[in-house]
Amino acid sequence: MHFEMYRQDMHSHLLPGLDDGAKTLEDSLSLIRQLRALGYTKLITTPHIMSGIHNNDAGTILPALDNLRKAVEAAGIDVELDAAAEYLMDDYFESLLEGREPLLTINGQYVLVEFSFVAMPMNYRTIFFNLKMAGYEPILAHPERYMYLHGDLDFYRELQEAGVHLQLNILSLYGYYGSRVQKMALQLLEAGLVEFTGTDLHHQRHMNVLAGKPLDASLRAKLAGGFIKNELL
Ligand SMILES: [Fe+2]
Repeated sequence: MHFEMYRQDMHSHLLPGLDDGAKTLEDSLSLIRQLRALGYTKLITTPHIMSGIHNNDAGTILPALDNLRKAVEAAGIDVELDAAAEYLMDDYFESLLEGREPLLTINGQYVLVEFSFVAMPMNYRTIFFNLKMAGYEPILAHPERYMYLHGDLDFYRELQEAGVHLQLNILSLYGYYGSRVQKMALQLLEAGLVEFTGTDLHHQRHMNVLAGKPLDASLRAKLAGGFIKNELL
């Protein structure tokens, strides 16, 4: 068991056929079984909502959650399964906020969002502000993966001061996304800016890394350093 201190995962793509994650129900069950074997007992899975690419909403996500829960139970896997979403901060997301559409949340308050990997949303300040005004707590997914923000720790300090929680991908610490991302992940962790960790699990290649060699002890100690809030979920 590698992540005995993190039994709750709050970022993954386990609902079959909804996005670029698990493709079939068998994929989903296999990944969930392996996560359980690593020690996870609660999985809040977060399908992409990306207008024009992954057109999800409560109407696609909640029935898929229901089906997967039944399958997990029938397979005898003892894990708590929930779902929210990973919203790309695009025009569509803004329109949801403006229309006061209820968003899919983690624990009723947190909304997981991501930036484009190409460029930061110009009006991110306004969007985060509007999210907070609507009563949500924004969590920014994998801050270490936005190359255009590398080296800009102050940007993330300001975000956190504005009430945006930061979620690190565990795979980044393994170097899965390359050494630059790994370095940024370490900087964020060492600066005490990371509040949540996630697997961001999509497929078996990710699983093989997570289930492989454990992270070294100094990293595990940093993850246990008191800033990480997964256990509150
Ligand atoms: Fe993700």
